[in-house]
Amino acid sequence: MTSEVSKRESFSGKYGFIAAAAGSAIGLGNIWKFPYITGVHGGSAFILVYLICILLIGLPVMLSEITMGRRSQKGIFGSYKKLAPGTPWFFSGYMGIAAAFLILSFYGVVAGWTMEYVLKAIGGSFSGKTPDQINAMFESFIGQTLKPVFWQTGFMAFTGAIVIAGIKNGIEKYSKILMPVLLMILLLLCARSVTLDGASKGFEFLFKPDFSKLTREAILAALGHAFFSLSLGMGTLITYGSYLKKNENLVPLAIQITIADTVIALLAGIAIFPAVFAFGIEPTAGPSLVFVTLPNVFQHMPLGNFFCVLFFLLLFIAALTSSISILEVVVAHLVEDFNISRKPAAIAITIVMILFGIPSSLSFGSLSGLSVFGLSFFDLVDHIASNFLLPLGGLCIVLFVGWQLKPGDVKDELSNGGTIETGYLKIFLFLTKIVAPIAIAAIFFHGLKII
Ligand code: PHE
Repeated sequence: MTSEVSKRESFSGKYGFIAAAAGSAIGLGNIWKFPYITGVHGGSAFILVYLICILLIGLPVMLSEITMGRRSQKGIFGSYKKLAPGTPWFFSGYMGIAAAFLILSFYGVVAGWTMEYVLKAIGGSFSGKTPDQINAMFESFIGQTLKPVFWQTGFMAFTGAIVIAGIKNGIEKYSKILMPVLLMILLLLCARSVTLDGASKGFEFLFKPDFSKLTREAILAALGHAFFSLSLGMGTLITYGSYLKKNENLVPLAIQITIADTVIALLAGIAIFPAVFAFGIEPTAGPSLVFVTLPNVFQHMPLGNFFCVLFFLLLFIAALTSSISILEVVVAHLVEDFNISRKPAAIAITIVMILFGIPSSLSFGSLSGLSVFGLSFFDLVDHIASNFLLPLGGLCIVLFVGWQLKPGDVKDELSNGGTIETGYLKIFLFLTKIVAPIAIAAIFFHGLKII
């Protein structure tokens, strides 16, 4: 085991892991998707369910993933195969791979939009425009055929290049410096947004729960988003956990990542909703919400254009540190289980994912007439991945760690071979064995109208 550990590439330390794992968690999910689905599902009550999901489901799943990865020193397939040889558990790894394909296909599209928005902001395109004009500008951009696909391809090429560079030189280097800068800009945006005239309605929307708006779909979406936002259910944190040194204490790491991710999402909400109400934008606007609201807020700020450029640049980078973690899941699988070398694996998968994302991009324009189960292609892909595959993948992970692994082994991993206290082990096992699986299954079947 030790020789394998030392052979395998690892993060340079605790901070490197936190930066990379938080970099994976914090992305478009927090800043673009969280506000937009909060708007669609009616605000505060949705947020409350989301927070409960984070605490009772997200945290145990995250700790389970990191535990599996560090114990096995493998990605999702290898983990199942090594920790439970000869059993069919590894089949659930296929859901992870499918989720990675689906998510990165539409993720690349939205991330591509951020690149166009960096250029628009540099060119001062938002100056002097009304909210309606800024909205029209967004609609006309995403409705085009070539330009969004061009940016999506560009973004995916960046992702592929970083994954080829490997863990220490690629993933870690970029995450470390940039995430704190993003936090600063978000705080500035919050300060401006909450002091706009009419901002208080936004606060009510965010923090005064109205449970009449809590539909089955909303609860399922909250669960799905807890998985999406924390990068859980498809093995990202199994893979990252496998690069973690044996002397790191896993519990505080999982807690810190969860808190960082949740704080950023809530800050994004606070930056956006007061402004949405102040400018009379529809909270249910959907994927356009952030791209329309924030350029308006920047207009009302000193040095607004400068901050606008910086914001979309950082959003692009936040998306990049997430997308590399998604691509890494598939690449690690090909490298470990098929002995394909890293570079051709990353190039091939990147190309396939670009092609797969094109219909999602076109679903805002030439394919907008196409709908499956009442959803656009883009929404369908997101729905299948986030609300089905990730929760089911997460269910397998908690069942595996809770019931298949020996409690002694789990304890050994969490206590670093008995060298640190594990007073919380009972709570963790209770959440992992009982609470999280029942909660995931209940929300899932409720969402599907089975219970
Ligand atoms: N967590 C990322 C985000 O919030 C997206 C992601 C999902 C990354 C699943 C990895 C795995 O943007």
